[in-house]
Amino acid sequence: MKKRKIGILNSGGDVPGLNAVIAAAVKSAHTQNIDCLGFIKGYEGLLNPVSYLELTPGTVWEITGKGGTILKSVNKGRFPGKVAEGRMSDIDKEIFLEAKKNLTRLGIEALIVIGGDGTLTTASTMADLGINLIGVPKTIDNDLSVTDRTFGFSTAVGMIVEAIDRLRTTASSHDRIFFVETMGRNAGWLALYGGVAAEADVILIPEFEFNYEALVKKLQQNRNQGKNYQIVVIAEGAQVEGSRVYKAEMEKQEHLLGGISELVMREVSRRIGEDYEMRNIVLGHIQRGGPPNSEDRILAQRFGEAAVMALLNKQYGKMVALKGRELILTDIKKAVAKLKTVESTDSLVQVARNIGISFGF
Ligand code: F6P
Repeated sequence: MKKRKIGILNSGGDVPGLNAVIAAAVKSAHTQNIDCLGFIKGYEGLLNPVSYLELTPGTVWEITGKGGTILKSVNKGRFPGKVAEGRMSDIDKEIFLEAKKNLTRLGIEALIVIGGDGTLTTASTMADLGINLIGVPKTIDNDLSVTDRTFGFSTAVGMIVEAIDRLRTTASSHDRIFFVETMGRNAGWLALYGGVAAEADVILIPEFEFNYEALVKKLQQNRNQGKNYQIVVIAEGAQVEGSRVYKAEMEKQEHLLGGISELVMREVSRRIGEDYEMRNIVLGHIQRGGPPNSEDRILAQRFGEAAVMALLNKQYGKMVALKGRELILTDIKKAVAKLKTVESTDSLVQVARNIGISFGF
């Protein structure tokens, strides 16, 4: 009898823990006597000329603790992003059909797709076209609804805290205000968790519009109370009174974020610069690099194993998710319908407020 075969791919920005998902899925499949192919650079690997690795327990040995992804990744390839139902162009449809044909030719019975909002939206369209697949949620921003957590988030928060701990000593030596920029395009989870853990004075996130009057007032108040140096954590997608603060470049219809900490620092400096010395730092991809911590390695392996079990049970079109301590299966469509953003009622927001952290409004 022909051996069963599944495919694995990851797409979008890398996250510490991707290799741990891949390794756990390959090992679980092997235990069930199923072969695995890992497609290179996400969905691109499904298109001609197809590009994949044959994955065996031997090839994934010792990658669980390694950052990045052995399968490589791209943000956006030839696949369309959000496709409104029934509105796919002929070119878009051709791309999906080419992928489907290649999967059939390779004898792949189902795919494990590891990705965030964009990747899973594409997966949902694929599922509609009859491609058997299971989604695994992946985003450093932790902004996918339905799952309580995504792997990589905890590692990134740890990185932010370590960076701020280091900045604190130099900020203190020089009595400076540091503007520390984190990732977080539409959701401020990284800035919120990192900022609270590292005792920031101010946290600015995309969900809560800030204004310069309130920000400056807080910095002055703190100084009047004897705080000679301060830490302002800013998510890259933070918004000031209705508009995003970002550099002008666009990449494939999406604003390239990055640089907000400098722009905010300049404006604060313009308003109160004479009295204060200020510096800014963009933590950037350091937050996504390096090995996953133990919590992320465990969550990623749980996701990888659960995805294989879901495929065995033919639970196609679903995504694995963490609810409390348990893993559940949910419809991919439901998972991508809405982003999980920070609410003002979130308990950590309340804690932050009660311990004197300002959100700049
Ligand atoms: O969505 C994850 C994310 O890390 C965002 O926080 C950030 O804006 C973006 O990816 C960075 O993407 P790139 O790796 O393409 O610069």
